Amino acid sequence: MNWESRVTKLLNIRYPIIQGGLAYLAYSDLAAAVSNAGGLGQITAMSLETPEMLREEIRKVRQKTNQPFGVNYAIGQHGRAFEHMLDVAIEEEVPVITMTGGNPAPIFEQLKGVNVKKLVLVAARRQAEKAEELGADAVMVVGQEGGGHLGKHDIGTMVLVPQVVDSVSIPVIASGGIGDGRGFMAALSLGAEGIEMGTRFIATKECIHASDLYKNRLISGTENDTVIIKRSLGAPARAITNQWTEKILKLEEQYGDYEALKDYISGKANLRYIHDGLEQEGFAWAGQVMGRIKDIPSVQELFNRITDEAEQIRKSWI
Ligand SMILES: Cc1cc2nc3c(=O)[nH]c(=O)nc-3n(C[C@H](O)[C@H](O)[C@H](O)COP(=O)(O)O)c2cc1C
Repeated sequence: MNWESRVTKLLNIRYPIIQGGLAYLAYSDLAAAVSNAGGLGQITAMSLETPEMLREEIRKVRQKTNQPFGVNYAIGQHGRAFEHMLDVAIEEEVPVITMTGGNPAPIFEQLKGVNVKKLVLVAARRQAEKAEELGADAVMVVGQEGGGHLGKHDIGTMVLVPQVVDSVSIPVIASGGIGDGRGFMAALSLGAEGIEMGTRFIATKECIHASDLYKNRLISGTENDTVIIKRSLGAPARAITNQWTEKILKLEEQYGDYEALKDYISGKANLRYIHDGLEQEGFAWAGQVMGRIKDIPSVQELFNRITDEAEQIRKSWI
């Protein structure tokens, strides 16, 4: 079946399925596996320590696939300047740059005259319009079901996606709560021309940096086992509920300032859970779709499953 859309043509990929930037998890193995399966894999720049480490990771992706891939920049979240990291992606001529987490204008400025596709992950209609004005080739729109950082207004994917589709003319990619062929087809029905998934890709064989504990929690957990933290900082983000997130919520209620929270929401606390598997000594991002994850397939198996299911749905509609 043909899955061509403006998104597949723009990114030169077979299926309009994008692997989201995944801080501390999206390295070359996952990115290459997704791109080899016909989607767009990504590596996440800002969770690498140095520009040279990013260069190495980009080269590793190229050793593992000859397909297009992206480099993701979550600006304003890791407390580090992105300019040198972006220089590396420009020098290495990566085909796609995605960005999120702050005002993307400086990134567009630095990419002026560079031959690269630019995608912005947004969580509100106004942000999508701004991205289009700045020159984005497409926007990804994440609804409130999603894992990691979200919009401030708690709008779900089902409402946000058609709203954005109606307000911009560039292609829209739906994100948040999608993990199977039904979600894929639902997104297309809403007017999106592709999907982005984050949580579902963590529970795959090629997401090798995710601890077994994290992956198993994604399988055992239900849709009730996530919670939004950091709301008091104006940066709401969805994580797996545990004692650590309960403590964060208490501190938010009591103090609600960065000083009181910083050790609890740090990258180190994130890594203790997601890399080291220390369940009660840190936190891990995940979306509500974890309630629908039941296994750890390879990325190729996951793609086969999603596209087969979507094709069955398409046939049943004719
Ligand atoms: C563990 C985790 C880390 C994430 N880190 C990033 C990131 O660094 N950059 C980014 O653009 N999005 C990041 N996101 C958001 C995802 O790219 C995607 O928008 C989101 O996961 C979609 O919702 P879903 O989890 O329901 O698929 C992250 C999400 C998760 C679950």
